[in-house]
Amino acid sequence: MKNIRNFCIIAHIDHGKSTLADRLLEFTHTISDRDMQAQVLDDMDLEREKGITIKSHAIQITYPFKGETYTLNLIDTPGHVDFSYEVSRALAACEGALLLVDASQGIQAQTISNLYLAIDNNLEIIPVINKIDMDGAMIEEVKDQIVELIGCKPETILLASAKSGIGIEGILAAIIERIPAPSGNVDAPLQALIFDSVFNSFRGIIIYYRIMNGSLKKGDKIQFASTRTDYFADEVGVLKLTMTAKDEVKTGDVGYIITGIKNAKEVKVGDTITLANNPAEMIKGFEEVKPMVFAGIFPVETDAFEELRDCMDKLQLNDASLTFELETSQALGFGFRCGFLGMLHMEIIQERLEREFNQTVITTVPNVSFIAHTSKGDTITVNNPTEMPDPTKLESIEEPFIKAQIVTHADYIGNIMTLCLGKRGIIINQSYLTSTRVELTFELPLTEIVFDFYDKLKSSTRGYASFDYHPIGYRESDIVKMDILLNSEKVDALSALIHRGRAQDFGRKLCEKLKELLPRQQFQIVIQAAIGAKIVARENISAMRKDVTAKCYGGDISRKRKLLEKQKEGKKRMKQIGNVEVPQEAFLAVLKLD
Ligand code: GTP
Repeated sequence: MKNIRNFCIIAHIDHGKSTLADRLLEFTHTISDRDMQAQVLDDMDLEREKGITIKSHAIQITYPFKGETYTLNLIDTPGHVDFSYEVSRALAACEGALLLVDASQGIQAQTISNLYLAIDNNLEIIPVINKIDMDGAMIEEVKDQIVELIGCKPETILLASAKSGIGIEGILAAIIERIPAPSGNVDAPLQALIFDSVFNSFRGIIIYYRIMNGSLKKGDKIQFASTRTDYFADEVGVLKLTMTAKDEVKTGDVGYIITGIKNAKEVKVGDTITLANNPAEMIKGFEEVKPMVFAGIFPVETDAFEELRDCMDKLQLNDASLTFELETSQALGFGFRCGFLGMLHMEIIQERLEREFNQTVITTVPNVSFIAHTSKGDTITVNNPTEMPDPTKLESIEEPFIKAQIVTHADYIGNIMTLCLGKRGIIINQSYLTSTRVELTFELPLTEIVFDFYDKLKSSTRGYASFDYHPIGYRESDIVKMDILLNSEKVDALSALIHRGRAQDFGRKLCEKLKELLPRQQFQIVIQAAIGAKIVARENISAMRKDVTAKCYGGDISRKRKLLEKQKEGKKRMKQIGNVEVPQEAFLAVLKLD
């Protein structure tokens, strides 16, 4: 145990986490050049394309140092706020963290929020300034920022270029010399912290864990502490470049277990694996992850519903954080109300449905989860605008709030204040990291973030602001349901829940946007926004005569058919609502309001 070091790399997005991980693996010959893909730790296609690490994995590095051989377990952490619970559990499995900061960017919001998570977990922090090879590297300035932030001595900050391989040896030495070896008792009952799991179509769910106490042998009857359900350890082992089976794994080790479980839902990140015949307590910090954002997913072709259901079931087998239930929409027919960890998670699911499962779907306006208290004393969780009780029967509504960290240049404080206050935010703190760099802390309603906060933040700071957040619970609020009518017909899939103070303006902008997005048709289209029976905004789209086949003079039938087919292709993502055709963009128009 004394030669084991468990660590992770925490960084703001794009500061070089994956590149550094690759260099560490290369330098220690954990992988050969031949095996070296662009980024081995990101093994999902989508991850590579989006350039972010979605699921945490782990890899074992063997490294000789000063006459002894060390086992270094690098636990990868997902780099996005949607997955921050997974990050916190990955950190809980480590004793230390490399805090990686881009020399040309300096400290950013995610650097700070990840650092706080690491401090909460009592990790030894090793600050590393990366990308020192760049022309724009501001090494001294970034050093000052780091010293200011974590109160370390400047000489403890390491300099590196993950890209050119500078400083890698020094980082390995620091991992061994500064990060404590795991503590824990090999003779105590087994406690293994689950920090991740992946679905494998041949082997079922593979669980990744860190053993805090005790040991685990192949064939042991294990138990999950949260549910007290038992399984057999069909295979246990450690994570080299591939899974390496072992007879036994012990305190301090990071490893995997295969039990034949097929459904991701049975395995919960943060849960404790213990032994059925000698169960231990659960490791503290376990939480059931709750979806934060909800939206409808509907097949474009109504008869593709059963197929879509099949795909959703399969997706859920390997993504336990996806929830869904049947939803019926007057406008869109049968579909699913899905719960996601956040907007990125929603995008990922949508893309996987399309790419891996070949589904063409319509996603409706996302909303957060509200809590409604009725005058009768009932409490209802509202994950869908249609579930909102009638205003006359409503006592009060609560909405989720977040604490947001924004790091920016002092020049943009004014713009950010205007933006956040306009989004019903409250400023909690303002602190200078250096004379020009500021960290602002706000409390904001989550629903305002879901809509278009990120784009607005970018445009009002010319990209010079970074942003991260975490949920801080529910607060009472005045939320109303806004309906959209097309030619007097209510389109339930376009309804949104919004704060009363912003409703009028929101309704007006939404009608304007829909006017832009809906194609003109051969009759007039009236777009209206309404709160209850009250119309708050209206737009008209005038009629247009258009007959694509007219040009063919009735003669060439095959040409006519081709044109019609072409037009049909263009319609693929159109949904007929009453007599109006509505394109997919319209269902997400809310996200694009100015
Ligand atoms: P996420 O996984 O998206 O959070 O990003 P990351 O932090 O893993 O960053 P990644 O390793 O993907 O690097 C981001 C970009 O920075 C890539 O284009 C890298 O090639 C580049 N990069 C990483 N390290 C260095 C470095 O030391 N010097 C220079 N010049 N570029 C680097």
